[in-house]
Amino acid sequence: MLYATIRPLLFRIDPETTHELAMQLLGLVERLPATAGPTRTDAALERRIWGLRFPNPVGLAAGFDKSARLPHVWQRFGFGFAELGTITALPQSGNPKPRLFRLREADALINRLGFNNDGAEAVAHRLGRRLAERPVAIPLGINIGKSAAVALADAPADYRQSYQLLAGLADYVTINVSSPNTKGLRDLQAAAALSAIVDAVRSTPLPGDKRHPPLLIKVAPDLDDAHLRDIVDVALECGVDGLIATNTTVGRDGLPDSLPAATEAGGLSGRPLTARSTAVVRRLRSLIGGRLPIIGVGGIFDGDDAFEKIEAGADLVQMYTGFVYGGPTAPRRVIERLLQRLEQSGFDSVEAAVGSAAG
Ligand SMILES: Cc1cc2nc3c(=O)[nH]c(=O)nc-3n(C[C@H](O)[C@H](O)[C@H](O)COP(=O)(O)O)c2cc1C
Repeated sequence: MLYATIRPLLFRIDPETTHELAMQLLGLVERLPATAGPTRTDAALERRIWGLRFPNPVGLAAGFDKSARLPHVWQRFGFGFAELGTITALPQSGNPKPRLFRLREADALINRLGFNNDGAEAVAHRLGRRLAERPVAIPLGINIGKSAAVALADAPADYRQSYQLLAGLADYVTINVSSPNTKGLRDLQAAAALSAIVDAVRSTPLPGDKRHPPLLIKVAPDLDDAHLRDIVDVALECGVDGLIATNTTVGRDGLPDSLPAATEAGGLSGRPLTARSTAVVRRLRSLIGGRLPIIGVGGIFDGDDAFEKIEAGADLVQMYTGFVYGGPTAPRRVIERLLQRLEQSGFDSVEAAVGSAAG
């Protein structure tokens, strides 16, 4: 209710300024004694994957907390896990502004932020200190990307540098090779480039001989079938632990040109992406056949969207744009509706529903 009242005001402000304002407010929320209630728990929602316990399958997608400033706040909104980043080895300011656009009529965003973040060393230092002060109740993923100033050919060493600094702090690490906003990044989804990056990070000793966390690859929604097959082959051959589908799209299907921001360059997220990302989840599931967990992300606004991704083969789901439009209560609403849908469909748990409509 409160968010519905203030949203029109917030949406009059430039989107990136609103985001920074939200992060400042969330910083205050993080310091308050628990008020928003704990993460929703219900035996039917719980997932155990990679030896981790997810109290529910609805997570925060990468890009909201790019520099891992607020590791403790996401559980307060009911998220069952959170993915922080994308973090690059070198600190970088990203692309020139404006670079984030609302398409309200389409429940969508277009962004070309370009991995603005504090860099792996600064993040590792701050996050390490914060986690040592107080543990986080939900699994935390850390998403790493290539520094803009580093040549594509040197990507494996660049990812390795971030990985070495951050992997010890993460419950899982995501290799992001699918953002459309770093030149050439998506070329790293090609089999040879991808396996070189996976090998580089996996062969790195971690400080204190720590165990390597599960390693995931995040893919674009714009890949053809041959490409998806290649990624699945690399993932299975190199011992990758899971896939995230999908990042934002460079396509503009279903978006009227009449919307002022529709022609902006960048990655499109939100409602226009829902069906496309679900189709990628379904295809990956049919290629993988349950051998690797999949995180489904793209245009989840409500529990029905989440349930559809799960039925298509997602073990866990994430949301970003749906959180921006739906506000702080969105994750809880998604979870409540998800429970209803499970019950109506006769599934006694999320786990039982995964891939039930994979085709
Ligand atoms: C403003 C914005 C910034 C994003 N930044 C990142 C990022 O840094 N790393 C990443 O892997 N994905 C990033 N994403 C993609 C989201 O994690 C997600 O994959 C995509 O937006 C689809 O989900 P959604 O429709 O729920 O937003 C970003 C998305 C948005 C809207």
